[in-house]
Amino acid sequence: MAEWKDTDKEKLTITTDLTGCDLVDLAYLRAKDLPNERLANIVDWLVSERTNSETFFWLARINNEPVGYAYAEEESGAVESKKIYVLPERRNKGIGKEIKKAQIKSAGQKGYHKITTLIPAENDASLSVSRACGFMLSSFGSNHYNAVLYV
Ligand SMILES: CC(C)(COP(=O)(O)OP(=O)(O)OC[C@H]1O[C@@H](n2cnc3c(N)ncnc32)[C@H](O)[C@@H]1OP(=O)(O)O)[C@@H](O)C(=O)NCCC(=O)NCCS
Repeated sequence: MAEWKDTDKEKLTITTDLTGCDLVDLAYLRAKDLPNERLANIVDWLVSERTNSETFFWLARINNEPVGYAYAEEESGAVESKKIYVLPERRNKGIGKEIKKAQIKSAGQKGYHKITTLIPAENDASLSVSRACGFMLSSFGSNHYNAVLYV
């Protein structure tokens, strides 16, 4: 079971209220995640979404290195997780689960009671992360699962 443990050399932090520096790091990660997207479009998207009170971001760093991000939007009173991403070389070490746990914690702190996410049926890693964090999974259409957690 992949589970993150801080060591003397590597400490994981997850930030949710993003500063300017965080935005630059998040743009770097999203550019890795979406290599065909122009960096200028990514930055425009981030800047416009950051001012939207119904979009939430999480940025994971090991020491100072950005290693993963997630974002979610409010939809019908619930937090709908839209994306979770960890750098390929940092996967399977429990970082995805830590980001998901941070999402759950901050959704509760913001007064939400439900978190949802739509996961492609073939995305075993994402399904494992959601299962490990207590989401209930039900089939949605022929090739997705709907993951729901009440907090
Ligand atoms: C989904 C993702 C964020 C998970 O991040 P991560 O840091 O690797 O997650 P964790 O290490 O916390 O957990 C990974 C889990 O997936 C499992 N897993 C990974 N690859 C797998 C595979 N090919 N088949 C089955 N299980 C797999 C691991 O065993 C682990 O589960 P376990 O702890 O129960 O053993 C990462 O894989 C990623 O960025 N994928 C690309 C983007 C993506 O698909 N995002 C989700 C849809 S938006």
